[in-house]
Amino acid sequence: MERAGQFELAADRIEQAAIPKYTLNNNTVMPCIGYGTFGSDHVTPKDVAESVKTAVSLGYRQLDCARAYGNEKEIGAAINEILASRLIKREELHITSKIWNDRHKEGEVLISCAETLRDLKLNYLDLYLIHWPFPNHHGPGCDDNERDPNAKPFNADRYLMVWHQMERLVDLGLVKSIGVSNMTIPKLDSVWPHMRIKPAVNEVELHPHLQQTGLLAYMKEKNILAIAHTPLGSPNRPDRDRTDDDTNILDDPAISKIAKAHNIHPVTVCIKWAVQRGTLPVPFSTSRSHMLSNLRCCTEYPLADTEMNDINSITTTNRFIKGTVLLWEGAPSWRCLWDLNGEIDTGGWRE
Ligand SMILES: NC(=O)c1ccc[n+]([C@@H]2O[C@H](COP(=O)([O-])OP(=O)(O)OC[C@H]3O[C@@H](n4cnc5c(N)ncnc54)[C@H](OP(=O)(O)O)[C@@H]3O)[C@@H](O)[C@H]2O)c1
Repeated sequence: MERAGQFELAADRIEQAAIPKYTLNNNTVMPCIGYGTFGSDHVTPKDVAESVKTAVSLGYRQLDCARAYGNEKEIGAAINEILASRLIKREELHITSKIWNDRHKEGEVLISCAETLRDLKLNYLDLYLIHWPFPNHHGPGCDDNERDPNAKPFNADRYLMVWHQMERLVDLGLVKSIGVSNMTIPKLDSVWPHMRIKPAVNEVELHPHLQQTGLLAYMKEKNILAIAHTPLGSPNRPDRDRTDDDTNILDDPAISKIAKAHNIHPVTVCIKWAVQRGTLPVPFSTSRSHMLSNLRCCTEYPLADTEMNDINSITTTNRFIKGTVLLWEGAPSWRCLWDLNGEIDTGGWRE
């Protein structure tokens, strides 16, 4: 271990030069894998912050944070400790945060970003995202029956009002890049012509059971990088995101077969596949050995084309993060959040 203060670089860390990088549409650069920081309502903020230090010591440089995860203060203390060690410079880290659904009004984006910067102890963010395209409020740990009576569906004008505030954060130098999350093609299409700064990324659920190839092709054409959230199907996700017919990616026969052939964990197969298809996975883990193997596998041999094709051919589909708690009055089902008919679905809502 190299010591300096409390934070240490691990002797078995992955060297930065070995980690592939993506260049975004504004020429900023991101490592091909990040570290997720959502404790899924059961890992405490303190434990997530400890894991952040472990992740960075092992070679992760990208942290996928969000206001809604309720742990930015603790992660900020961890980042402070990392930077105080002088082993890593601020510009070597790539830090994302996201504005939560209850801060979509005029004037709220700057305030929310300032709160995030204060808690993360930073003077700029590398990437700031609109977490969801739906204004609403629900607190941490809520169950799937909870609904905000003031929740509303997506509306292009409302969304653009938030986006234009995000653009001003770039102008002010508080944020290097801005992006969206959980956006569909019809929603992106409706706002795209009015965006002065185009989104650098769209962070969406992507894994072998939700491959979203149409969305990825659309994003590639628009030069938007796909950040893959819940890249392992979020096996420890909160109860509100569980239904009886949910699948288990890690048991999928195509994944298991490839894992057995290489004598690797099915998780490793999922991460290699995510990076090889040009997406940026942000797996969460509290286990040092899992963090290390998740990072290392991005630097080692790739999956064969036939193996990539076998995974691409999986027909099982399952959206794990359905978003039910975000629904508004009268909305029939979580399915209307996802515009399954190729048009913006407001679930019967009239403005
Ligand atoms: N933008 C959005 O709306 C949105 C939504 C959801 C999530 N996210 C982001 O995506 C991140 C990841 O999602 P997630 O945390 O829900 O789920 P995930 O990354 O798909 O799965 C995490 C789980 O996988 C296990 N795991 C990780 N590596 C493993 C390995 N090598 N072997 C075996 N098990 C392993 C972890 O357990 P161990 O701790 O035991 O390793 C953890 O329970 C979040 O933390 C968050 O940053 C964003």
